[in-house]
Amino acid sequence: MYSDLNGKVAVVTGGSKGIGNAIAKRFGGEHMSVVINYHTDEVGAQKAAKVVEDEGGRAAIVQADISTEEGNKKLLDTAIHEFGGLDVWVNNAGMEIKSPTHKVSLEDWDKVIAVDQRGVFLGSKTALDYFVSNDKKGNIINMSSVHEQIPWPTFASYAAAKGGVKLFTKTIAMEYANQNVRVNAIGPGAINTPINAEKFADKKQYDKTVSMIPMDRIGTPEEVAAGAAWLASDESSYVTGITLFIDGGMTLYPAFKDGEG
Ligand code: BGC
Repeated sequence: MYSDLNGKVAVVTGGSKGIGNAIAKRFGGEHMSVVINYHTDEVGAQKAAKVVEDEGGRAAIVQADISTEEGNKKLLDTAIHEFGGLDVWVNNAGMEIKSPTHKVSLEDWDKVIAVDQRGVFLGSKTALDYFVSNDKKGNIINMSSVHEQIPWPTFASYAAAKGGVKLFTKTIAMEYANQNVRVNAIGPGAINTPINAEKFADKKQYDKTVSMIPMDRIGTPEEVAAGAAWLASDESSYVTGITLFIDGGMTLYPAFKDGEG
């Protein structure tokens, strides 16, 4: 546990499932107050809130579309009115749609960019505005991916969004570094979450993914949440503008692992 996190207030977007859910739980274990955002999965969000409380934290759930300004404002308002302010904002919500790029509809392209990139901008803007206007120390964590670095054919919209998140994170980290706000990204690799459930249910695809990971296994949401807790805490007080890859080595060019090339 990180003692400085005790009593801090966090917003976690997309907190009803997967990595966001694990981050909410971990923040509960740090005795934080957590605003859990969900889009459609109200039951998942309620369960997540119960877990946060069981872990020793406080929780509020908020339905909101994080690709809109009103959605993000709703999250900040809840943090302020329910818990008295904001310390940590995690832009976690994300989605991906697979399609050969020459077949991607404009609608699907816009949908992915709206959630994965515009949502990160709007969430960061909302949090930054609160931190700066209140002259308050702040912390922003953006969920990126190994695909901010590794090209991903048939997922061009996702890779384009995550590549954008990478430089957006670094840019605002620099812009607000001397105003007591730290901004970092996390780049998960293949993690056992609902976004991957269908793919990993297929043994061939599962084995193929594992073969691309030097550590020979899929990661857990808790392993990503551990990184989020560290970035949120003062233990990482001199860290800003990084992407912390939590990927079992997936970004290390695993095709070279036998010394060939
Ligand atoms: C994606 C997963 C994928 C992983 C590794 C993540 O960003 O959400 O679907 O398995 O990257 O390719």
